[in-house]
Amino acid sequence: MLNILIVGSGGREHALAWKIKQSSKVNQLFIAPGNAGTSVLGENIPVGVSDFEGLKKVVLEKQVDLVVVGPEVPLVEGLHDFFIADEELKNIRVVGPQKHGAMLEGSKDFSKEFMERHNIPTAKYKSVTRDKLEEGIAFLKTMQAPYVLKADGLAAGKGVLIIDNLPEAEASLKEMLDGQFGAASSKVVIEEFLSGVELSVFVITDGKAYQILPEAKDYKRIGEGDTGLNTGGMGAISPVPFADEAFMKKIEDRIIKPTVNGLQKEGIPYNGFIFFGLIKVDGEPYVIEYNVRMGDPETEAVMLRVKSDFVDLLIAAADGTMAEQSIEIDDRSAVTVMLVSGGYPGSYENGKVMTGFDQCENSILFHAGTKQAESDIVTAGGRVIAVSSYGPSMKKALDQSYVNAEKINFEGKYYRKDLGFDL
Ligand code: AMP
Ligand code: GLY
Repeated sequence: MLNILIVGSGGREHALAWKIKQSSKVNQLFIAPGNAGTSVLGENIPVGVSDFEGLKKVVLEKQVDLVVVGPEVPLVEGLHDFFIADEELKNIRVVGPQKHGAMLEGSKDFSKEFMERHNIPTAKYKSVTRDKLEEGIAFLKTMQAPYVLKADGLAAGKGVLIIDNLPEAEASLKEMLDGQFGAASSKVVIEEFLSGVELSVFVITDGKAYQILPEAKDYKRIGEGDTGLNTGGMGAISPVPFADEAFMKKIEDRIIKPTVNGLQKEGIPYNGFIFFGLIKVDGEPYVIEYNVRMGDPETEAVMLRVKSDFVDLLIAAADGTMAEQSIEIDDRSAVTVMLVSGGYPGSYENGKVMTGFDQCENSILFHAGTKQAESDIVTAGGRVIAVSSYGPSMKKALDQSYVNAEKINFEGKYYRKDLGFDL
């Protein structure tokens, strides 16, 4: 029996907590800092994800055996390395890569070079720093519109610009290098634009063997028909109809295996999740990006389809015994529909009282941005609730989520009613 600490506070962490809680191997579950939803499954502890000393105190006081890190920021900042370097923490299992492996997400330039070394299909690119602006502009001139510019470092999901014409691309490149995204854009990756349909594929790995989790497709734009501004994600579906066996095999052979083998060959330890952000172009898969964590909101659909004891997989990722594991997947569809605050992804107000939870049946309500305020649950973020459902088909699962999306009320509530429209 293990005491488990989940680090993070979103819908992803609530979904992880929900799945972990189903395991017979869990003694106590803690979430730092968690949200109103996770407080029902375990004990929320008000410590931030980047407060390493605070997390250390929690682990020692609560006798935590295993830590699951939800978001990328603490991984890129070296939370796992901090545990390894600490006499009292070095034997605690951590699921989430060390700093070196986390660079797959923390530095786009690192990830592009890694893919190049291991022949992993991805868009053509060039990385430039401020002193190489002219080379960057020359490279842009060899490309065709639209132009893709990416801040090298973490930029809270905002560091990718897709620009229609060359003069604007040149101006944006200069702005980025001049600090538009702070240090994150002191280096910029200029990429060839790939046109196709995207999907998210996840593995859990110990750095040698891996298990493939259910794939998903998320809907990033705020508006129906995939229009308007990018968001953290307005919903997700799993499985992805176009990801048939043959396509998944290409992904495994050309992308997953070379990635895990590449990490191993380069001596980069990796215990955790790899999220492959992929795009299908003329029937072939390419990597758009790596993330070193699970997706949000994909996790709020993916966890529904994992039948295996998830704690066994977490232990195997930490202990290096993934080769002995297998994974059982539910063949039903699972979807999640995100209810968001009015105004999101622009400015919005928090603190709206929420009602209707007790009216909802046959969905799982994962809290993304909520807070307990005395006897009320109130909104506390742009993305508020992920309404997740099973169904015999994607359509039926979506219908179920939409019934409950109607029943939850808070001022300014918005959600997309067209998920799956493109499939
Ligand atoms: P990222 O922040 O890396 O996930 O990028 C955000 C979004 O930009 C991706 O989900 C894609 O829709 C798009 N994108 C990134 N790179 C490319 C590319 N090379 N070609 C086309 N679209 C891209
Ligand atoms: N849903 C995309 C992400 O988690 O980055």
